[in-house]
Amino acid sequence: MKKKKSTLKTLFFEKGVLFLLNQLKLPLEIDYLPCSSEIEVADAIRNMVVRGAPAIGVTAGYGMALAASRHKGLPYTRFRDKMQECSALLYSTRPTAVNLSWALKRMEKVWRGTANPVGISKSMLTEASLIEAEDVELNRSIGKHGSSLIKNGTTVLTHCNAGALATAGWGTALGVIRSAHEAGKKLRVFIDETRPYLQGARITALEIMDLGIDCRLICDNMAGHFMAQGEIDCVIVGADRIAANGDTANKIGTYSLAVLCRFHKIPIYIAAPCSTLDLSVRSGADIPIEQRAESEVTEIAGKRIAPLGIKVLNPSFDVTPACLISAIITEKGVIRPPYRTGLKQLF
Ligand code: MRU
Repeated sequence: MKKKKSTLKTLFFEKGVLFLLNQLKLPLEIDYLPCSSEIEVADAIRNMVVRGAPAIGVTAGYGMALAASRHKGLPYTRFRDKMQECSALLYSTRPTAVNLSWALKRMEKVWRGTANPVGISKSMLTEASLIEAEDVELNRSIGKHGSSLIKNGTTVLTHCNAGALATAGWGTALGVIRSAHEAGKKLRVFIDETRPYLQGARITALEIMDLGIDCRLICDNMAGHFMAQGEIDCVIVGADRIAANGDTANKIGTYSLAVLCRFHKIPIYIAAPCSTLDLSVRSGADIPIEQRAESEVTEIAGKRIAPLGIKVLNPSFDVTPACLISAIITEKGVIRPPYRTGLKQLF
């Protein structure tokens, strides 16, 4: 199914089908993948048709709603076992982004609520669309709070994609940039291409250009050079999981940027909703880091670029220690160190 670029949405639910913007095809093709079952949804998350921590959470919510609708004819105990199974399937898709388990826990409260599968199925769809709608509102609040940190004439560097397409809409890190832009501030954005999946080059570049904000695409290894030249005023990125002490897992390369920022005395801000906070995890050392396929490193657009037989490492995320982070921007406000107390007070 084709959709015009001006109406680009991460996902939409229509007549019992979840349509996911196929982010593997961006920016050259706008194509929505229809998903009618939790199995198709799980595959789409695992294969990164949809990606970005909040977007994965929203998608998993709809995955559970599809599962409930498919299995609502079962007697309640079998239905409940099935829900448990579907939840485990969706949970297994990507380990680092905590928004996934956050959304699944929210859906679990619904399917454990009553003993009526038909009623539960309706409530599950309502809950999934509520999670989607709330996400956009939270992102707008993050944008409003974060915008206060951005002065007129600022050059921001961002990594990966934490925009509308990594969420249900508006974005977290890009939401801050977008809110500052809408408030009339003149901005320039440097976009890291973000190897190996190229979220920056393929997705962030598309989003920032669509917003009409002045931007430059750079390779990841150019960031230090531009910082040394005094071109970058601050770095804003999203997060996949924030531990109780403020250590933050985000796209691989974020840690290197934070070290560069410290050396060059440039602030680095993390923008994320409270659903990305995992206070059950004491520090970043306990955050599971997803390891992805070797082919993401040895191939570009399906073409082999490395010698056959080369051993490859491909961690998808790294952890930036809290001591390198200037502030964490949430929908409830801007949190400064010490994070352990600041983050706890959000709940
Ligand atoms: O592997 P991805 O594309 O899902 O990784 C995305 C990121 O690391 C984002 O920065 C993070 O999920 C925040 S998105 C608002």
